[in-house]
Amino acid sequence: MSRFGDDPRAFFRQVYDAAAPWDVGGPQPVLAALLADHPPRSPILDVGCGSGDLAIHLAQAGHEVVGVDFVETAIASARRKAKALPEGVAARVRFELADASRPSALGFTVGAIVDSGFLHLLDADETTRYVVDLAAALPSHGRYYLQAFATEFDVLHTPRAVTSAELTARFNGHSGWRVLEIRDAEFLNRVGPPVPAIAACLERI
Ligand SMILES: C[S@@+](CC[C@H](N)C(=O)[O-])C[C@H]1O[C@@H](n2cnc3c(N)ncnc32)[C@H](O)[C@@H]1O
Repeated sequence: MSRFGDDPRAFFRQVYDAAAPWDVGGPQPVLAALLADHPPRSPILDVGCGSGDLAIHLAQAGHEVVGVDFVETAIASARRKAKALPEGVAARVRFELADASRPSALGFTVGAIVDSGFLHLLDADETTRYVVDLAAALPSHGRYYLQAFATEFDVLHTPRAVTSAELTARFNGHSGWRVLEIRDAEFLNRVGPPVPAIAACLERI
């Protein structure tokens, strides 16, 4: 069973039926700053894109982006936002309903993958499979950007903490990665104070 029960999609559907706490009306600022400091190569895949704010932010910056999420209402909301964009920006971003846990299986050619709150949903074994798959999805010099919780909550169905030590153990020369930067971050949310977080830019060798 995953951290989010037998049916994680049903869990996330319910969260979107209320108001998703992570839907803060824009990209997470530290992740956006990291992307500005280490520019990604298009096309970009946004895994677990939610209602699309990070993908739209990247399209506004001139990138080709595809956002993928497995919750219908999240994708519908992202598509509505994209429709309201100026034509030239809207032409650069699209949203697809799919499982994002195997990025290479989606069949997209990608230059970079962005992850705002996806990896921290996965338990250790799922993360191992996901990281192997990320390597298959990205070309040499392709970059993976993530932001994840750095704090563990003693509450059912919450993300796990991701540490700098975990990232350097998973993304190193042996596994075909180099760490470009790991920085302290915070996850803004609509229900409480920002959650301590970690953000990273990892590059395929
Ligand atoms: C913490 S939210 C973050 C949403 C968005 N990236 C943001 O920063 O606002 C995690 C998202 O991942 C999606 N998700 C979880 N597991 C997924 C999976 N296996 N495939 C696709 N999307 C998934 C959820 O539906 C949710 O939208």
